[in-house]
Amino acid sequence: MAVQIAPSILSADFARLADEVTAVSNADWIHVDVMDNHFVPNLTLGLPVVESLLKVTPLPLDCHLMIEDPDRWAPGYAEAGAGSVTIHAEAASAPIRTLRAIRSAGARAGLALNPGTAVESYADLLPEIDMMLMMTVEPGFGGQSFLDMVLPKVRRARDLIKGRDLDVWLQVDGGVGAETIERCAEAGADVFVAGSAVYSADDPAEAVRSLRERASG
Ligand code: DX5
Ligand code: ZN
Repeated sequence: MAVQIAPSILSADFARLADEVTAVSNADWIHVDVMDNHFVPNLTLGLPVVESLLKVTPLPLDCHLMIEDPDRWAPGYAEAGAGSVTIHAEAASAPIRTLRAIRSAGARAGLALNPGTAVESYADLLPEIDMMLMMTVEPGFGGQSFLDMVLPKVRRARDLIKGRDLDVWLQVDGGVGAETIERCAEAGADVFVAGSAVYSADDPAEAVRSLRERASG
């Protein structure tokens, strides 16, 4: 699958969100980090902001739910029109039901794993998902350093997906930038979230272009 770039608006100016998403119109997705101050120690935005963003960008929204009780909230993001909704394995109590509800509402279903969560424990869920998100930092904040220790797990995830002949996208999120994206691509990732690497750049669209080129090898 071709490389896909998903700028994370966590590093954007929240007072100018419409302009900030327009600035990366050459991206494939807009990555939206929903944090509830319980699953992670940070609070960002929720469904009302997602509904407003849907009106100002033609790009699909990739909603990454870092929240407790995703079983309760995730289907609502799909029903609102998000292109992809990702729940955390560590937070979901009925992941199969929730992933199926996301798909029934017409969105792609994603499952996220924290750096310390083993992919092997979730191998049986692969047929239920369209994307696996590998956190390459502990979730909660932008601008953290990439955790190299996650790369072998990205490789194992790619092998599991290939071994089962599934079309599951593999996303990396956290510390992904010019210095790290090539290693992620080599390990088998094909969807790349970048927050600070895109929005700290003078020209965010050029940052997206350059990341895409690096990841495409
Ligand atoms: C962190 C979020 C990320 C964050 C990445 O918990 O899930 O999407 O925005 O930011 P960078 O790319 O700056 O590490
Ligand atoms: Zn994220």
